[in-house]
Amino acid sequence: MFAAASAHPNIAFIKYWGNRDSLLRLPLTGSLSMNLDGLETRTRVWFDADFSADSFSLGGVEQGEESLARVSAFLDRARELAGCGLWARVESENNFPTGAGIASSASAFAALALAASAALGLSLSEQQLSALARRGSGSACRSVPDGFAEWLPGSADADSYAVQVAPPDYWDLVDLIVVLRSEHKAVGSTEGHALAGTSPLNGLRVAGAPERLIECRQALLARDFARLARVVEADSHWMHAVMRTSTPPLFYWTAGTETVLWHVLDWRKRGRAVCATVDAGPNVHVITAGAEKTWVEARLRELPGVQQVLCARPGPGARLI
Ligand code: PMV
Repeated sequence: MFAAASAHPNIAFIKYWGNRDSLLRLPLTGSLSMNLDGLETRTRVWFDADFSADSFSLGGVEQGEESLARVSAFLDRARELAGCGLWARVESENNFPTGAGIASSASAFAALALAASAALGLSLSEQQLSALARRGSGSACRSVPDGFAEWLPGSADADSYAVQVAPPDYWDLVDLIVVLRSEHKAVGSTEGHALAGTSPLNGLRVAGAPERLIECRQALLARDFARLARVVEADSHWMHAVMRTSTPPLFYWTAGTETVLWHVLDWRKRGRAVCATVDAGPNVHVITAGAEKTWVEARLRELPGVQQVLCARPGPGARLI
């Protein structure tokens, strides 16, 4: 029983931060993202009666207890759906520089959800597949549909999944990923989500999220960059305000992050179609219109502390290979 699948990571324009149910990964708010075309995870899965345990390799390296346990727990969910008790072998590769500080859990669990369910003979709808991917990593549910996706928070396991808002070719946006630091983040997002509720600002962020989500969806559908830029930056700042005011505080930015954000704001004031958003790490995702890419990329490369700039356009969803 074998299948192979590919999926792309995504960048959230409206962020997911904090769960209502951390075991099921049911989020506090909806979120909206763009799949990143240039970056990809490819995963192969075998289920076999000859295996005596699950095993998992990433980039050709056998993974230790912690990441194997997470993959195994995810496979248990897929096995439960299929009523199958066989152990599995999982082999995965990322085509983007590993350890470049780019969250790979979204593409990893979207690809694994598709490969594992196909290998088990499950034929899931896109919504069921998205809900399954969510169980591995919340943001993975948004890597299942093509292009721009919105995660509907739902009320339970079955109705918390992502749906397409617009196809990849709807708008020629570019994500220029400014890599400032490449080591692994100190506090991962699974731990981070659990701290959201300790911030006195969390309630305010959650209360404002539905309005920002509507604003973002409308700006995207109208291809209105100025509107998109305002709400994308505001939403990123809200998430980092919650992170910083959590107990213990989570502080992901570096001086380099501030410098990039300051310049992006300045370029926009001067009429450039550019804005920025930051996930649970110091690297900055600079979103720009396709026509501005060359200019913005050249300026970013001149800034202090910039190790590399990766470029991604709107990408497809998870697919079998
Ligand atoms: O899916 P997770 O648990 O890795 O959480 C992702 C959290 C952020 O990247 C910070 C925001 C988001 O919506 O992608």
